[in-house]
Amino acid sequence: MKTIIEPFRIKSVEYVKTTTEEERIQILKNAYYNTFRIPAEDVLIDLLTDSGTSAMSAKQWAAMMDGDESYAGARSYYKFVNAINKIFGFKHIIPVHQGRAAERIFFTNVLSVIDKDGRYRPASGKYIPSNNHFDTTRANIEFNGGSAEDLVIEEGKHPSIIHPFKGNMDTDKLKNFIEEKGTENIPVVMITVTNNTGGGQPVSMENIREVSEICKKYKLPFFIDACRFAENAYFIKTREKGYENKTILEIANEMFSYADGCTMSAKKDAFANIGGFLAMNDDKLYEECKNLLIITEGFETYGGLAGRDMDAIAQGLEEVTDESYLHYRISVMRYIGDRLLANDVPIIQPVGGHAIYIDAKEFLPDIPQEQYPAHSLVIEMYKKGGIRAVEIGSVMFGKYDEKGKLIPADMELVRLAIPRRVYTQSHMDFVIEVLQNISKNKKNICGMKIVEEPKFLRHFTAKFEPVK
Ligand code: F0G
Repeated sequence: MKTIIEPFRIKSVEYVKTTTEEERIQILKNAYYNTFRIPAEDVLIDLLTDSGTSAMSAKQWAAMMDGDESYAGARSYYKFVNAINKIFGFKHIIPVHQGRAAERIFFTNVLSVIDKDGRYRPASGKYIPSNNHFDTTRANIEFNGGSAEDLVIEEGKHPSIIHPFKGNMDTDKLKNFIEEKGTENIPVVMITVTNNTGGGQPVSMENIREVSEICKKYKLPFFIDACRFAENAYFIKTREKGYENKTILEIANEMFSYADGCTMSAKKDAFANIGGFLAMNDDKLYEECKNLLIITEGFETYGGLAGRDMDAIAQGLEEVTDESYLHYRISVMRYIGDRLLANDVPIIQPVGGHAIYIDAKEFLPDIPQEQYPAHSLVIEMYKKGGIRAVEIGSVMFGKYDEKGKLIPADMELVRLAIPRRVYTQSHMDFVIEVLQNISKNKKNICGMKIVEEPKFLRHFTAKFEPVK
């Protein structure tokens, strides 16, 4: 059969609210043209993120009822650890409330300098290379005084170039980078699977292995940002020679066997609404991370989580390695991608694992980067269809030079992140239709300017106005 169907049926429904275009124009004004500021109730189809937005399975809800809320040594913690061990295989596991908590604890330890009074001071002159750091990873590195370096392969920077593993790290660049900066200034090398910032693009096993070998040669620790490990494993299975007959679990096991640890947001490939963990093999690092965990997250057997959340994650990890689910998941992405391309909406190709990324620079060539073309399209999608997407471009990653002039991001993307198991095909057909109509009338779209912004992670709270 060619038709791909959702490999689940719906047991519980949540109604969504329809608004008029007039109402949405007012809602946008009230939200200072920042879709993060729009009340979710006023959104018809919410593609802001695939993080924490999954529909949990009946088995996950059942597992939550069985959650053990003991402060120390809860049964839920052991279930959580066992489920993680089965896939990741690292010696130590630290539960945290979400991915960025793992990042904060990890980077505070590997980057900060502890002064004579035992206080953590930001580092200087330290670098953390990755294929592409996600924005919270970058922010946690910078907050701790380090520099986050993106060394994705050249193909990964060009939306229309087809390559099976556009998330790969450029290993020659990595070697040169290590030689240039010195191993003493690189506390850890990372790889993000799949590469969210670069379009949800996968990283090949060969690349993970090579990066691991380079790290071994230079005696540098190698960590994986594992949020979407199962989607990455599915791409390896379907695109990399030698893996076609392996199970998703076997592929994941091999991926993590090359690393010394990982950060994980369970809000993605564990189908959980909250949660995450930090895992590692190094005993000393574990002890140091545990100290920080206890200060800000919680005791070592719950981190920032309720017992029931750990149960939901344990069950979710069991479900996400199911190949028929992953086949459906990636097929949905292809379905949307193919139809957008057929309607002259340029997207990153091939489509990634959790989202479709529209190339707004190409779609709206008349809007200069200083007027944030991707953000302008995000606003138009909400106005025309009540669809909420997210900008991954110069609002999220732009910097200013000394004169206050924008240094734009490499790409201007609009991400349509698809929550796991939440929307049906007709929801997706609606999204495609809205974009079709926008495409026909795109001359009417105007640029945007920032009128107020914070220092870190400005996209969440910045205020905008249309450029007249
Ligand atoms: N790493 C990657 C690759 C991510 O995509 C995210 C979150 C994080 C780390 C941080 O995890 O949210 O649990 O603290 N990405 C979400 C997104 C927010 O929309 O892509 P978190």
